[in-house]
Amino acid sequence: MYQLVKSVLFRYDPEVIHEKVMSSLSWCGRHPGALRLISTACQFNDPRLTVKRFGLTFPNPVGLAAGFDKNAVAIPSWAALGFGAVEIGSVTALAQPGNPKPRLFRLPADQAIINRMGFNNDGAEVIARRLAKLNTDYGSLAVPLGVNLGKSKVTPLEQAAEDYLRSVQVLQPFADYFVINISSPNTPGLRKLQDKDKLADLLAVISSYESAASAKPILLKIAPELSFAQIDEILELVFNYNLAGIIATNTTTSRNNLSSSLDEAGGLSGKPLASRSLAVLKHLRAQLQDRLPIISVGGIFSAQDVYERLVAGASLVQVYTSFIYEGPLLLRRLNQGLLQLIERDGFSNVEAAIGSRAPD
Ligand SMILES: Cc1cc2nc3c(=O)[nH]c(=O)nc-3n(C[C@H](O)[C@H](O)[C@H](O)COP(=O)(O)O)c2cc1C
Repeated sequence: MYQLVKSVLFRYDPEVIHEKVMSSLSWCGRHPGALRLISTACQFNDPRLTVKRFGLTFPNPVGLAAGFDKNAVAIPSWAALGFGAVEIGSVTALAQPGNPKPRLFRLPADQAIINRMGFNNDGAEVIARRLAKLNTDYGSLAVPLGVNLGKSKVTPLEQAAEDYLRSVQVLQPFADYFVINISSPNTPGLRKLQDKDKLADLLAVISSYESAASAKPILLKIAPELSFAQIDEILELVFNYNLAGIIATNTTTSRNNLSSSLDEAGGLSGKPLASRSLAVLKHLRAQLQDRLPIISVGGIFSAQDVYERLVAGASLVQVYTSFIYEGPLLLRRLNQGLLQLIERDGFSNVEAAIGSRAPD
């Protein structure tokens, strides 16, 4: 059914469709009857899917990756669709329009997307007001809410720490966890913040604020292009500054594994990213064992993909591109299929499967 809908949707500009989908999901989020219908059709719930990490309970291990709901307009709908967590953003301290359009491209032959959105978002203060209203309307949400933060484009790299801190302060009451995103390829210079000295300065500022405030978990999102040596340097800092976990990976600037000839600048996501994302996960797990949770993201399309990441050591996973290609029943399929795989292999629950095939 969705394949039919998709063949129509894919005839139109991707960003126009994205905006229409977002306004529909936003509308549904304000109408309890619509949310109930979506939940009935799309959710698959089972207590064996529950994962507990950094003080939060995730009803299932598959979350929505950052970038879909940058402005936090449709949070109740994501929960109704069956996601086990919702990550909004990237939010920047200052509102910004992002890069000129067109900036979003489908590559159907590769089940992939290229984007150079450039952190288009309403800015931390407007988004904080939206989240405050959501809290009043809904009380606490059924799933953890991650707030992914980027650097405002106009802020020079040397002032990045203050820029991120401003967003943390404004959004502190609403986030269940924060993600420091230093890995988007579409903000000039941003990935330089992955350099050891710059990252140390940034994490020092944010972690000292968090340990004084109500201490929300802070995770770091990294790029797939980092060498394993660079990743190891970053892990040292992650421990020094008591971060709660690591998200791997963001989109890639590499064009490996592509059959499409589309040559647009930006970050590539979807199936062609899967092998690198998995390799980064395996390296992270080998270095970390189970000392720090890893959230694996990049090219996850099937229940088998989710299972593969979990047994390789990811505590949680996220998806973005597969939701575009597979549609609203994706989460039902992933969670139902995951449970079958877990039963097949004799695990009592998802927690028991996590890391079970990672080398010691
Ligand atoms: C259109 C688009 C916009 C994105 N925007 C962000 C963003 O603002 N912040 C971020 O951390 N990641 C962003 N991402 C990256 C995703 O969160 C995810 O890391 C990446 O797409 C790989 O997962 P996937 O293969 O399941 O899509 C974006 C991805 C896409 C496709």
